[in-house]
Amino acid sequence: MPEMDKEGKEYHVGVKQKSELFYLKGSTELDWGMKNRLARIFNPKDGKTIMLAIDHGYFQGPTSGLERIDINILPLVPHADTLMCTRGILRSIVPPSITKPIVIRASGGPSILKELSDEQIAMDMEDCIRLGVCATAIQVFIGGEFESRSVINMTKLVDAGLKYGIPTMAVTAVGRDMERNAKYFRLATRICAELGAHYIKTYYTKEDFETVTASCSVPIVIAGGKKIPEMDALTMAYRSINEGAAGVDMGRNIFQSDSPIGMMHAINAVVHGNEKPKQAFELYRSIKDKMQK
Ligand code: 5RP
Repeated sequence: MPEMDKEGKEYHVGVKQKSELFYLKGSTELDWGMKNRLARIFNPKDGKTIMLAIDHGYFQGPTSGLERIDINILPLVPHADTLMCTRGILRSIVPPSITKPIVIRASGGPSILKELSDEQIAMDMEDCIRLGVCATAIQVFIGGEFESRSVINMTKLVDAGLKYGIPTMAVTAVGRDMERNAKYFRLATRICAELGAHYIKTYYTKEDFETVTASCSVPIVIAGGKKIPEMDALTMAYRSINEGAAGVDMGRNIFQSDSPIGMMHAINAVVHGNEKPKQAFELYRSIKDKMQK
């Protein structure tokens, strides 16, 4: 028989038990596991995240900068809050000793040679659990040829994730001929939030982006989009944060930069330090110069 401890006496009768409001927009009513996973993605100190997006190969093959993920991307991972990738890359290249939260690409189907909105759910929730992921990501094509099906795919993934406490990130995908303006993104992000997405990746708009974040009831992160000059990418990140975004899910503007590690540091300074674009650009440049010596 183990020895019994004495019963405790410090009950603090009359002192109300502490309970905190969850810090992420629209997430207070979620279950513990869901919140805990989101808290691994969004830094609890400032509610922001830097997701390193490297999932582009699932529809466009070996994208420039992602030819060798083992060589070019793994050294960047320690500087990100979250890694967003496919399960194929996770299992074949990312070491399981990694402690960064993983957001897994859970949709797919068509390649760049076909109609992209024809995506399906491409992963079971059971495998998401097996991999220990912190969220799933799925494309939603508002205005696209397969709009309804992509929305319903998202709701199915949300339902599957709710069973096990795994959040869903909806990605608002924009068709080639669609205008990327605030009106479109207000519509697309709001539909995703109304139908259950836990957070949403969308694009920054130079005008009225704050109306996109204000009218969406859950956190928004921005995609980087096509490679643009580093100063412009840092300015976009800075503005998006100051206009209500909860972070970035950035790929090409990091791994296609002439100094991906410099960009990781500079984006960190902007997202977590609210550093001005000019100062962040100087940081990028100084790291680039140091690495070249
Ligand atoms: C592909 C994606 C990408 O992850 C997303 O576009 C982010 O990457 P980038 O910053 O290169 O745009 O969701 O559909």
